[in-house]
Amino acid sequence: MSSIDLKATQAPHILVLGVGGTIAGIASEPDNNPLQYRAGQVGVEDLLKQVQAVIPSELKLVSVQLANIDSRNLSESLLTQIGNSIKASLDDIAVQGIVITHGTDTIEETGLFLQATCGKAAEKLGKRVVLTGAMLPSNAPGADGPNNLLGAIRWASTPLENCPGGVYAVFSGKVCMAKDLAKRHSTALNAPLMDSPASPIGLINPSWLFGVKAVEAVWSEDLPIPQEGEWPWVEILMSHAGARAETIAHWGGSGISGLVLAGTGMGGLHEAWKTPLVEVASKGIALIRTSRTGSGITDSDTPEKDLSGCMAAGSISAPRARIALQLALNAAKQANLVGKPLTWQDFFARIADLPEIR
Ligand code: SIN
Repeated sequence: MSSIDLKATQAPHILVLGVGGTIAGIASEPDNNPLQYRAGQVGVEDLLKQVQAVIPSELKLVSVQLANIDSRNLSESLLTQIGNSIKASLDDIAVQGIVITHGTDTIEETGLFLQATCGKAAEKLGKRVVLTGAMLPSNAPGADGPNNLLGAIRWASTPLENCPGGVYAVFSGKVCMAKDLAKRHSTALNAPLMDSPASPIGLINPSWLFGVKAVEAVWSEDLPIPQEGEWPWVEILMSHAGARAETIAHWGGSGISGLVLAGTGMGGLHEAWKTPLVEVASKGIALIRTSRTGSGITDSDTPEKDLSGCMAAGSISAPRARIALQLALNAAKQANLVGKPLTWQDFFARIADLPEIR
């Protein structure tokens, strides 16, 4: 819940939204075992106190606690709440930039969600939305949270001529577009940005701005934020040795709207799934094919021909592809309601086929 009335804050400021995570975590024995901790224990106001001393006094910060959770419990209704808050804050002329402190476990899902639903507004309004978090709890020796928070505040408040508005993530002094964020290690300090397949991970430095501008240019408008109760039901299934036809048949009869299939290698699916997947596709269930490797690209028709209606996810991982598919299904539904003949494939392609930033 909000700890401050935003409307009462008219002075220009950076808004810091707290959602929880390890950055707000507390370890019971920080010196002996910093990885035994509970996430989402410290309020965002207290996190800001840890960095206040090094923030220029003329930079005003306003904090709002949206939630304080372990992000493995991230819900669709919280995503809606975060998205609506970001949209409203972007429209608030007093808000110069926004930082979100978030658990790293699902930060890539929130990153893709925000970039697809708020990225264009942020770009048009010339404001930066910056996600950050930490791998060590707030009371651990050498905790990485304060530095990450500081980096995110700097990036959110960097004068615009150095970089366009948009949705970003900052970890360990590095920055990437939020949609490219990926957690690739369970414990390493820079896990949230490691090996991100399509990310030009660089030090916070205007020298790579050309690539960012190229990506931003292909977005024409933000996708609608699904409101509570509107999120389509989409699950992720992984292809593996001994995969069974019954698994696909089971989900085909479940009332689900879409499946993200995390295939082997370049997104290959077990032969046993072929016939039931044709059946599932014929029922209108949306299918996305991605790779369970966690890195690299899944191209269309590789390694075998895709089923009709099944789309390859490009460089986006299974958890991000799931959010992208939910947004695409919802956007197609909204478009059809106003007579626009657009499909979920049109919207998914727009999210997944962005050029890589180099
Ligand atoms: C979480 O995702 O909330 C816990 C793990 C983390 O932030 O690194």
